[in-house]
Amino acid sequence: MKEICVIGAGTMGNGIAHCFAQNKLNVILIDSSIENLEKAKENINTNLDRMIKKGIISTNEKINTLNRISFKNSLDNAIKNVDLVIEAVTESIQIKREIFSKVDKICNSETIFATNTSSISIKEISKSTSRSEKFIGMHFMNPVPLMKLVEVIQSPLTNKNTTNQIIELSKQLNKIPVLVNDAPGFVANRILLPMINESILTLEEEVSGVKEIDTVMILGMSHPMGPLQLADFIGLDVCLSILEVLYTGFQNAKYKPSNLLIEMVKNGELGVKTKKGFYNYNNGIKNKTVAERFN
Ligand SMILES: NC(=O)c1ccc[n+]([C@@H]2O[C@H](COP(=O)([O-])OP(=O)(O)OC[C@H]3O[C@@H](n4cnc5c(N)ncnc54)[C@H](O)[C@@H]3O)[C@@H](O)[C@H]2O)c1
Repeated sequence: MKEICVIGAGTMGNGIAHCFAQNKLNVILIDSSIENLEKAKENINTNLDRMIKKGIISTNEKINTLNRISFKNSLDNAIKNVDLVIEAVTESIQIKREIFSKVDKICNSETIFATNTSSISIKEISKSTSRSEKFIGMHFMNPVPLMKLVEVIQSPLTNKNTTNQIIELSKQLNKIPVLVNDAPGFVANRILLPMINESILTLEEEVSGVKEIDTVMILGMSHPMGPLQLADFIGLDVCLSILEVLYTGFQNAKYKPSNLLIEMVKNGELGVKTKKGFYNYNNGIKNKTVAERFN
């Protein structure tokens, strides 16, 4: 593969674009919001600078990586001949289906389609296209340039050739692909999100405070980061959408999103991306926010 298109330049999309470009693929990064495209440009720049400081890449590699990414705010013929389209927009089946149905009409029949969805059925999204056999889940982890795992999700309609190509491509990106089947939340989020939801319930029921809950999981379970802070990094809106997919998909009360999570999303407290979640992220300083209500 030589050229790919990433649709959605938010938390995940900018990391995916960075990662492919750093590994010598040309990338067209598309977002409907010009503001988010600008933010993505800034983030990629800052993250590459951080890599230079740590001695991971040279200044030349940074320049070459940036030169391989072009930024666009609409879907058009520029993506006709890309080898792969990866979608990383908002976690909504309607939005994803709408985008893929448009892209299906633009791209040539050889282009493989991948979605970075955290939880939604790959098969159901693929039905909005004429190429379910070339449609697959490529679930990257945040932050994409650093995290090794790619959950590769094959639907019952995905063909073996597509799966093999995506596994090989993941290895080319220096990632470790793990192949899983299509089920709500796949493996990663089916296990992770109930834990995050339970930690929010523990806070809501005033069993303990934000810092305390995170400390228990860091020191007691050797987690590198507490579940509440991790939720802030994932985005509380994304956490809520995933829980809703699990709750509807399995029809089981254990996946019911906590009231506090719903309330915070309504208030626009989405975590790092809005600088306010379980912690405050203004000027890089973490302070308690919701914690204060409960401590
Ligand atoms: N945040 C995480 O940690 C994480 C991890 C793995 C997978 N994911 C999945 O990745 C996807 C993106 O999540 P995110 O956290 O990057 O979200 P985000 O909210 O940070 O970014 C979504 C981007 O999509 C853009 N967008 C929305 N509708 C669009 C459209 N019609 N056309 C073009 N662009 C559009 C928005 O402007 C925004 O920039 C979701 O499916 C999410 O479940 C998220």
